[in-house]
This record gives sequence, structure tokens and C-alpha cells, in this order.
Amino acid sequence: MEQIQIIDSKNHVGETVTIGAWVANKRSSGKIAFLQLRDGTAFFQGVVVKSEVPEEVFQTAKNLHQETAITVTGEIREDSRSKFGYEIGITNIEVVGESHDYPITPKEHGTDFLMDHRHLWLRSSRQHAIMQIRNEIIRATYEFFNANQFVKIDPPILTGSAPEGTTDLFETNYFDQKAYLSQSGQLYMEAAAMAFGKVFSFGPTFRAEKSKTRRHLIEFWMIEPEMAFTHQEESLEVQEKYVAFLVQSVLDNCDYALDVLERDKEVLKSYTKLPFPRITYDDAIELLKKNGFDDIEWGEDFGSPHETFIANSFEQPVFILNYPKAIKPFYMKPHPTREDVVICADMIAPEGYGEIIGGSERATDYEFLLEQIREHGLDENEYSWYLDLRKYGSVPHSGFGLGLERTVTWISGIDHVREAIPFPRLLNRIYP
Ligand code: 4AD
Ligand code: MG
Repeated sequence: MEQIQIIDSKNHVGETVTIGAWVANKRSSGKIAFLQLRDGTAFFQGVVVKSEVPEEVFQTAKNLHQETAITVTGEIREDSRSKFGYEIGITNIEVVGESHDYPITPKEHGTDFLMDHRHLWLRSSRQHAIMQIRNEIIRATYEFFNANQFVKIDPPILTGSAPEGTTDLFETNYFDQKAYLSQSGQLYMEAAAMAFGKVFSFGPTFRAEKSKTRRHLIEFWMIEPEMAFTHQEESLEVQEKYVAFLVQSVLDNCDYALDVLERDKEVLKSYTKLPFPRITYDDAIELLKKNGFDDIEWGEDFGSPHETFIANSFEQPVFILNYPKAIKPFYMKPHPTREDVVICADMIAPEGYGEIIGGSERATDYEFLLEQIREHGLDENEYSWYLDLRKYGSVPHSGFGLGLERTVTWISGIDHVREAIPFPRLLNRIYP
């Protein structure tokens, strides 16, 4: 008998098959048992009818507990009442792994309890849907950059440099030296762009930020493209095409997951329209002031209420351009006619999800960068390799970083970034 996965049921209608699965839930009466089965690929229903199976099979079904692992044998049939569309009429059940007193029951649990049981919570249909969307965004990222001739380059995770500032670094011993966990691969990606033209990285990054918000993780995954001979305007075009492609890919390939999460697909569809609006930092400040925000002055960074207001004014992802130099990292290119701003942009997601991309054109001048490194209190010896890039064939180049979990949170339409990564590292949480 063929062993299949639930997701392939549609290709086996009318056939008798075997499936390895866990019992996600169960309802039974004296005559019939309905098993909600999951095997990692999907969830569907198994039906055991007392009068159609040997008595011991029905008894086994009746005695199954939540999350018992079983193999079931039966015929795949269409089931027009379920969203999935198929079910299995079970003729035999074998118990593979017992489960007793599974802690996560179908009733409501508090978030702390679920976070403590994240290793089990991942089995739920909601988490399954979110991880499928995450997986699709990962897949589509590789497709997009491969199709556009970017080379995947892996920057190191143990580093001596601090591209985004020294306040939120994880420090560790590197034999008799100090090292940090990477907060961004960007500086290495700039070296890679000078070697390969168009590159992207996709890896874990670490920020010891004491932020406890629905947007902050301590460990998160970032996609960092970097492009030689590229100015900021072309980089913005790559960014909006990439983000629209991610949204379209999820629409195309995660229909069921979006249904489980009750995500409005028409709204998602509207995020594939290009170009995305652009507003300067200056104009954004003015917009806020005109609308009653007295709590922000030119020169300050936006808080989430500000970002949400700006995003809501456009109902699409929006680029905020050219922030004050004083609140951005050392490597950004100065504006040609404005000393106080740099050539950069953050992409703010709609619906209050906040910044999903930070990017900029990079400074190309050796002397300027050396001065910036000193001004930011960075150890110039650690950056001499980076300065070399400005000594040997320096060219205009631009890049950006997209936060994977923030993007998953937004596209999935969920409330908190902690559900967008399998095992979130949060302030005060490293278990499980
Ligand atoms: O804006 P950030 O700090 O930019 C950089 O690191 C640049 N070096 C990127 C580049 O130009 N190559 O971070 C980029 C993105 C943010 O827009 C956000 O989506 C995500 O990374 N991010 C976080 N996501 C979750 N938790 C955190 N603590 C995050 N910090 C940044
Ligand atoms: Mg940023």
C-alpha cells in the first residue's frame, strides 16, 4: 500500500493509502469517530465508522489522545464540507507513539503559556500556516534574486565591526580577542559587491536591544542585497519589485494558509501595485505636525505611532527618504546639497506593521568615511579592510536590508513578530 502525505490526497482519490500522522483533535460518538489528522504537510479529517471496521479498530480510535502518533490506512475521498476538500475513510489504525495529557488543548491559552510550549505550539494549524508563509517568502527571495543575477554571499556571523552602532551588540570572547555577533552583514556585502557586482545575503542577525515591542526580536533573519554601480533610485526600484514579488508569491502559493489566518487577499493584492509612494523625511515631519503630532521635532526618529500614521496616509508600503544624518549609521552617503540629511530610505509597511526595510546609498569617499568612523567612536583599525574598498576602485553602490520576520508578520496579518519565527529569542526569553 502506498504511503502518502496528506497534501497529496487530491492525487489519490478512490485509492487505499497509508498515512503517518498525529491526532490533532478527536470527536466521537458510539457509532463514529472523527479524527483531525496532521502530518506536517496539512490537516484533514479521518472518519472511523464502527459498523465498517473491526471492533478493535474502532476501540483504538475511541481511545486515541491528542497528539498520539499513528499510521492510518483507508480510502481517500472528496469532502466538500471541509476547506481542505478531502478526507480519509479509515479501515485500520496503528499506534506508533503514545501521547498523554498534551498540554495545549483546544481551549484558549495565555501567550506566556504558549511561548513556554513553543516546541509544541508549532504543531497548531495557525503556526503551520504562518511557517508556510515564512517558507514561501524564503523560497521567493531566492527566486527573485537568482532571476535578477544576484550572487548569494554569506557574510560572517562572528565579527569585529558594528555597522549599525555599538549600543546593541552581543559581545563574545574570540580566543584572546573580543568579537560580536553580527548585527548586519552589510559591510561584508559591500566588499562582495565590489567582487561580484550584485549580491545578496540571507542570514541570522543579532541585536541586544532592550526593546519589548511587537516588532523586535533579539535574533532575526535579514536579507541584505548590495549592488555596485547603483544609485539609490535604482535600489528603491529593486526594493519595491522585490516586496511586490513576495506578496504575489504568497498570494499564488499560500492560499490555504491565508484562509487559516483570515488574511484579506484583496488588501494584499493592492500591495503589488507599483511604484510604491515616496515621501521625504522633511515632508513626513510636516505631515505629522499638520495632523496634530506635537511630540516630534525635525531631527528625531519616528516612533511607531508616527510610522503608522504615515503608512495609513498611503495605504501601501511607503518609502521615507533622506533622514537626518545624525540618526543614521556612519556609512550612508551624504546628500549632495543638504549637509544635514543622508541618501537613504526606510520602507514602512501598511496597517501599522512599521519598518520592514532599511537601506541607503553608501558613501564612496575614503576621507569622508574615515572621519565618520572616528566621529561615531568606532575603532578605525577594525574598519581598515572596509576603507580599502574606497581605495581600490570605489564606485557608487547601494543596498538594503529586509527583516524576514517583520515581513512575515505583515503579510500574514498577525499581531506579533514572535509568531513569525520558529523559536523566537525575545527580551527575557531564550526558552525553549
Ligand atoms: O534598518 P536596519 O538596522 O538596517 C541595517 O541593518 C542595514 N545594514 C541594512 C542594509 O542596508 N544592508 O535593519 C534592517 C531591517 C529593518 O528594516 C527591520 O525589518 C529588520 O531589519 N530589523 C528587525 N527585525 C526584527 N527585530 C529587530 N530587532 C530588528 N531590527 C531590524
Ligand atoms: Mg532601520
